[in-house]
Amino acid sequence: MKNEVSIQIDGVLIKADGNKSVLDNLNEHAVEVPQLCYHPSLGPIKTCDSCIVEVNGELVRACDTPTESGAKIDTKHKDVRDSQVMAMDRILHNHELYCTVCDYNNGTCEIHNAVKDMKINHQSIPFEPKPAPKDNSHPYYRYDPDQCILCGRCVEACQDLQVTETLSIDWKSDRPRVIWDNDVPINESSCVSCGHCSTVCPCNAMMEKGMEGKAGYMTGLDQKTLRPMIELTKNVETGYGSILAISDMEASMRDSKIKKTKTVCTYCGVGCSFDVWTQDREILKVEPHVAAPANGISTCVKGKFGWDYVNSQERLTKPLIREGDRFREAEWEEAYSLIAEKMKKISGEHGKDALSFISSSKTTNEESYLMQKLARAVFGTNNVDNCSRYCQTPATEGLFRTVGHGGDSGSITDIQQAELVLIIGSNTAESHPVLATRVKRAQKLHGQKVIVSDLRKHEMASRADMFLHPKSGSDLVWLSAVTKYIVDNDLHDKSFLAERVNGMEEYIQSLEKYTLDYAEEQTGLSKKEMKQAAEMIAKADTVCSLWAMGVTQHLGGSDTSTAISNLMLITGNYGKPGAGTYPLRGHNNVQGASDFGSMPNKYPSYENVTDNEVREKYERAWGAELSADIGWNNHEMVEAIHNGNLKAMYLKGEDMGIVDSNINYVHEAFEKLDFFVVQDIFLSKTAEFADVVLPASPSLEKEGTFTNTERRIQRLYQALEPLGDSKPDWQIIMELANTLGAEWNYEHPADIMAEASALAPLFAGVSYELLEGYKSLQWPVEPDGTDTPLLFEKEFPLPEGKAKLFPVDWTPPLQYDEQYDLHVNNGRLLEHFHEGNMTYKAEGITSKTPGVFLEVSPELASERGLEEGTLVRLTSPYGSVKVSCIITDRVTGNELYLPMNDSGVGAVNQLTSSRADKDTDTPAYKEVSAKMEILKAKGESPLPDTNHRRGNPQPQIGVKVEEKWARSDYAFPGDLVRRRKGAGK
Ligand code: SF4
Ligand code: SF4
Ligand code: SF4
Ligand code: FES
Repeated sequence: MKNEVSIQIDGVLIKADGNKSVLDNLNEHAVEVPQLCYHPSLGPIKTCDSCIVEVNGELVRACDTPTESGAKIDTKHKDVRDSQVMAMDRILHNHELYCTVCDYNNGTCEIHNAVKDMKINHQSIPFEPKPAPKDNSHPYYRYDPDQCILCGRCVEACQDLQVTETLSIDWKSDRPRVIWDNDVPINESSCVSCGHCSTVCPCNAMMEKGMEGKAGYMTGLDQKTLRPMIELTKNVETGYGSILAISDMEASMRDSKIKKTKTVCTYCGVGCSFDVWTQDREILKVEPHVAAPANGISTCVKGKFGWDYVNSQERLTKPLIREGDRFREAEWEEAYSLIAEKMKKISGEHGKDALSFISSSKTTNEESYLMQKLARAVFGTNNVDNCSRYCQTPATEGLFRTVGHGGDSGSITDIQQAELVLIIGSNTAESHPVLATRVKRAQKLHGQKVIVSDLRKHEMASRADMFLHPKSGSDLVWLSAVTKYIVDNDLHDKSFLAERVNGMEEYIQSLEKYTLDYAEEQTGLSKKEMKQAAEMIAKADTVCSLWAMGVTQHLGGSDTSTAISNLMLITGNYGKPGAGTYPLRGHNNVQGASDFGSMPNKYPSYENVTDNEVREKYERAWGAELSADIGWNNHEMVEAIHNGNLKAMYLKGEDMGIVDSNINYVHEAFEKLDFFVVQDIFLSKTAEFADVVLPASPSLEKEGTFTNTERRIQRLYQALEPLGDSKPDWQIIMELANTLGAEWNYEHPADIMAEASALAPLFAGVSYELLEGYKSLQWPVEPDGTDTPLLFEKEFPLPEGKAKLFPVDWTPPLQYDEQYDLHVNNGRLLEHFHEGNMTYKAEGITSKTPGVFLEVSPELASERGLEEGTLVRLTSPYGSVKVSCIITDRVTGNELYLPMNDSGVGAVNQLTSSRADKDTDTPAYKEVSAKMEILKAKGESPLPDTNHRRGNPQPQIGVKVEEKWARSDYAFPGDLVRRRKGAGK
């Protein structure tokens, strides 16, 4: 809440915000004050002293001074100027000004700008290099100590925003500098390559390597030529004024050769947005902004650095048509005609439902909308689905049952402000890295409590206040026992339940069997642990529950998701800030792929295909007769192919041949298809089975929108032209539809969104105008454009406006024959997205993580004689993998962890079964057991020494500026100025 106070700035009376610092108020009133270490996303760091102003007669750091009513602030006083100049002198002692030949001189160098604004012409302490070399060891960014002003922004970002805790400043050194871990080269540290440090650095000290030698007209010079150039520039000019004038001119010329385009990350469901800087087809850097609604200035390695795939030599640039066992290149017209002819023929011979369509959770909302329209309106079938079936559908089902909307209850800011965060079956720091930083920061700095339930002691588990390690597949049991304990001990939210929830009585009865004794037996958790968890959850004012594939990919995935929602209802954790359920969406647009109708039973906005009124609405709008029969989901499609009922498939942007479970069985199905079309940017494993392959364009080459895990719709803009003959998916689908006589005439994805929003109630007010730039909308969006960052504040979209407690029962996980004695947990890795078909194209990422590895516990290693690098074969009843081991206490006993970043002999889905969640058909990927044999006892470790998991983080709060202030060579400039004045100097 704003706390309005009256203050004077340079003699002018103004209203200011008493909750903010003097510097924030000065900035708000556009009073210019230098502020080199301050960054709005990091808060006061207090290292640079450039922001000194006079407050009530005292010289103070404006960034660290609260705004008190009646304060008299002077920014013009000579002592202020003298103090600021002294601070700048010290800064320039640490930073050489050679702006014209500097790659950072793009109008945003804060040192350049401060020197210019302060009209500093000379420095009294000359620049002096530091006795440490440039660190170029990391593939994506480098550190130049000679340019480092020791502002500490990078340290603050790494320690307290990203919370990887790699960076510090060695204040004890004669010439301090930034160090990684305990002073190792960058590439051998715990750095996870998130890029926060290079994003917040005010100058060229910490800089993305993509910029080096590229940004300026004269920055591509080699060191031999550059050094004399720098000296020449410095000697010829009479003062900084002219150096800056020339470099400003050069910097503005750079605008014409660097294109800056806002885009949305194409990897995970956090939905980070940022500007991508390009020069022709080259990607110079990714620059996040404070204005980005989901991530602000944050990114992870994939969004910041994982873009090489866009220009990969392996991109498909021409349509391909199968001839025998090879493909030949073709023109679009030929490919369209062939598809139209084959699909019509199959439909004519075997019926419309012999065709199937699979949409992509990587492509845009508009493209998902068109894919389902193609299936329904052009081909007359509801056989359309998307890969949320592989991960998220059970979560959506659990939420539909209990609260009526299948999406996150609130925003990432709600998770950040929750008093307690409950994380179940989610490796958040690796799968949703930027979202995880908000939890890590809230826990580190603001006392947030975190409970994690998982099989594996991943980063979030090791940081948690409470780590629960139940037996695989037993989450529903402990969740129900904890809920029962809360009710039995009168800790439930009675008024919330009475006013806003139906079904209490029946639900309480359903909990009967979930005693703590029963739960202890089934889950392996102790009664004490469960009681403690129950009390922490019940006593916290606000709780957010986060879950992911560790919950959903089980035989009872929908029921466990329901149990989580039930627990949040029982404790009144819906409809208020800082509370709710957050099924963390995996792919960048897995939420939107379903929202916009690529589902066999739902139109866009989750309206039922069986609802006559809804169907008639779409029939009128699309001018086509639509099927009233629910179609097959992608799991059922595989069965239908094997049974001979499904003959053709059109699949876009989905490597089903790797990511579906039991892939040997899926590959056999592909081979049985009469006709198979795959639309992708690469010749994926799936595409190898196709009859026609269509080259699509990735996100940087098109426009559209993605919907992130917060239900947030965001626009992406085109940065590059489509490569070769590739085309955006929406254009391909439209042209194919038109080959079949559909007469669609969308000129831009905005036209598709306009049609979708006119039909789908959840998106009624969505328009491209309201999504301009960094603006976003969280559905439901009212016709007037009002969106809904927080759901359920007034009512639930269920009968009587009330939520419903939904009784569920436990489905025990799959049991395997005793020879399969090891449980194979599996999931994502931070640096390779999913199977890695995009991230392996990034040389830097691949150099640090070249392939898959198997995590083995120290106990199992000693029992079986395994060591780092031992090559083993794992065999399940469905297939086998070959993979090398690493030994780690992230896993215990007979539990293994096999990440999913492999498409070959280590691909986890060689092991998984075709068994699935009983309610949604989501494969039970997490219910796998295997036996192990040693193939080669000794071998090289699959994890290089440059992998961040080998690092040695050094946690601390902030930059420890007190250590700087305690140095004998430091004195506060304000004190020096006043002392000199007092001494008459
Ligand atoms: S983890 Fe690495 S890239 Fe990220 S802020 Fe820390 S040092 Fe920089
Ligand atoms: S490297 Fe770090 S301490 Fe040095 S100038 Fe950049 S942000 Fe500041
Ligand atoms: S992968 Fe996810 S967390 Fe990383 S930058 Fe992209 S959207 Fe953000
Ligand atoms: S901005 Fe205040 S000390 Fe740096």
